[in-house]
Amino acid sequence: MILSLAPMEGLTGYMFRNVHAECFGPLDRYYTPFLAPPHVGSGFGKKAFKEIDPKNNQGLNVVPQLLTRNADEFVWAAQVLAELGYTEVNLNLGCPSGTVVAKGRGSGFLRNPGELEAFLQDVCERSPIAVSVKTRLGLVEDREYRQILDLYCRLPLAELIVHPRVQKDRYQGTPRQEAYGETLRRAPFAVAYNGDVFSVDEYNALCAAYPQTRHVMLGRGLLANPALARMVRGGAPATAAELKRFHDKLFSAYLDEMGGNAVFRMKEWWFYAKFAFADPLAVHRAVRKVRCVDEYEHAVAGVFSGEAFASVPVFRA
Ligand SMILES: Cc1cc2nc3c(=O)[nH]c(=O)nc-3n(C[C@H](O)[C@H](O)[C@H](O)COP(=O)(O)O)c2cc1C
Repeated sequence: MILSLAPMEGLTGYMFRNVHAECFGPLDRYYTPFLAPPHVGSGFGKKAFKEIDPKNNQGLNVVPQLLTRNADEFVWAAQVLAELGYTEVNLNLGCPSGTVVAKGRGSGFLRNPGELEAFLQDVCERSPIAVSVKTRLGLVEDREYRQILDLYCRLPLAELIVHPRVQKDRYQGTPRQEAYGETLRRAPFAVAYNGDVFSVDEYNALCAAYPQTRHVMLGRGLLANPALARMVRGGAPATAAELKRFHDKLFSAYLDEMGGNAVFRMKEWWFYAKFAFADPLAVHRAVRKVRCVDEYEHAVAGVFSGEAFASVPVFRA
């Protein structure tokens, strides 16, 4: 089974990947949060380059993800990535953000299946490395997926990662696993599942319902429970000491990288990590108002010394 870490803008960048792998063991694969491809002829911007710089991803199996509807820029980016040693590039067809969708990118690209098929045909032909896709089912209704899946099945994709919600759902409601099952039945290429796998039980239920499953991508579940992948593989839950060590290394990496803004980056992480404690609301209250490093360190010391640890952390929306 391939277990991968979901691309999550602001959360699962290269610092998170490295610290998580060091503390809990590497996952089989990591996807970068979406990157804008550079203009043809130029290089990735400074921030984006850090995500893909081989120096920042040593020993990790990383697939860069692009957010674009411009085929020339996609192919150019794929060439740059190939030169850096990458063997696969992923296209984001899932981002539900209003501004992204309005520009016809992310899940907004699903509105134009004809244009999307021409784009994918073109980039699959011209990209020097394998092209995979992370998709939603459509924008408004699940039935849009019939036409979208038909077009994917005509293409030489390396893999299709299915997050079976529509754009309108954002991250609410229950993922429609049947659409993933239908993809498994029909697709002539590898298929992966993503969405609401927050516990070992949910992982086992997915694999029982769809025994051909070969790749599960973990997102919020792993942020709330950093030992989730290890537990899926039969290992132990995280101890309080492990979580503290993970936190300290992550905060220190962000501090080195961005100074005081590390506090805001960590607060995003706490939105998920609070579920590692028996009273997530108390943890939320302790960290929500902090603004500077001193306040942050004080609040977090209080959480680790005063809050009981959940026996098994589970993310709940
Ligand atoms: C804050 C946040 C940022 C995200 N950023 C990305 C992204 O950059 N690229 C992408 O394909 N999906 C992104 N996603 C979607 C996740 O990769 C994933 O599909 C989603 O969280 C559902 O999986 P989960 O239920 O396991 O969390 C993001 C989700 C969240 C909540």
